[in-house]
Amino acid sequence: MPYLFAAERRNDADYAGGRVFYSLPGHPAFPVRLVSEIFQRCLTLRATNGLTTPVALYDPCCGGAYHLATLAYLHGERIASIAASDIDTEALALARRNLDLLTLPGLDRRITELERLWADYGKRSHEEALESAARLRERLLDLTERRAIAVSVFQADATDGERVLAALGARSADVVITDVPYNRLSAWQGDAGFDPLWRMLEALRPILTPGAVVAVASDKGQTPAHEAYRRADRFQIGKRRIVLLRPVLSTD
Ligand SMILES: C[S@@+](CC[C@H](N)C(=O)[O-])C[C@H]1O[C@@H](n2cnc3c(N)ncnc32)[C@H](O)[C@@H]1O
Repeated sequence: MPYLFAAERRNDADYAGGRVFYSLPGHPAFPVRLVSEIFQRCLTLRATNGLTTPVALYDPCCGGAYHLATLAYLHGERIASIAASDIDTEALALARRNLDLLTLPGLDRRITELERLWADYGKRSHEEALESAARLRERLLDLTERRAIAVSVFQADATDGERVLAALGARSADVVITDVPYNRLSAWQGDAGFDPLWRMLEALRPILTPGAVVAVASDKGQTPAHEAYRRADRFQIGKRRIVLLRPVLSTD
């Protein structure tokens, strides 16, 4: 029974890729229910250390950031900021469009776009997308009334520690959730040296806050392991293996 937290919701259709959030062929979208489950497991681990304040969330292989945008709508009260990076400029352009939907002007631009499509083509799917967008707008108003979620998007090779540190600063991420390349739909790019997963974990070390959790989703062919981390949780959904790691503290 791998799902401990993420109940199926009646309005999950509001989050479907291509409806309000943007998706593109060749950019595999991460399932909403799964990313919600991972996020809640990360928060539970942090809570065991008494860490309960809203988190700085980072994904170093963000793709279209569809999953980060949906997480913000689902769990925005528990997210202080979102940072997203990827090596691929096309993915980043999509990520910027999706994360723009976390601001009222951005969502309103999307609503105008959908209204135009509905007026031009009159498809039921456009009408449904407008209905979803109206519900998301209500949710966003509720969220942003408290505070806006700070967003940053930048290009980086996830294995390039200097670049990631320069972009984010030291001790800047509380939770990292990343769906790494699978060598099927997407392959590791950039400096294709040894064990990119180990090098990504090494690159992340300086930017993690004490008590941080790093969740890595991958296929079964890759195992995230690094001597400076210990495994805190692990589960599998379909073909995806999810491993939650915590940096080893000197007192561990
Ligand atoms: C499985 S996809 C992530 C999909 C994402 N979860 C989504 O919902 O769109 C893996 C991503 O890793 C990126 N990638 C590949 N090599 C990378 C590297 N060295 N550094 C950073 N990102 C990389 C790819 O461009 C791709 O967007």
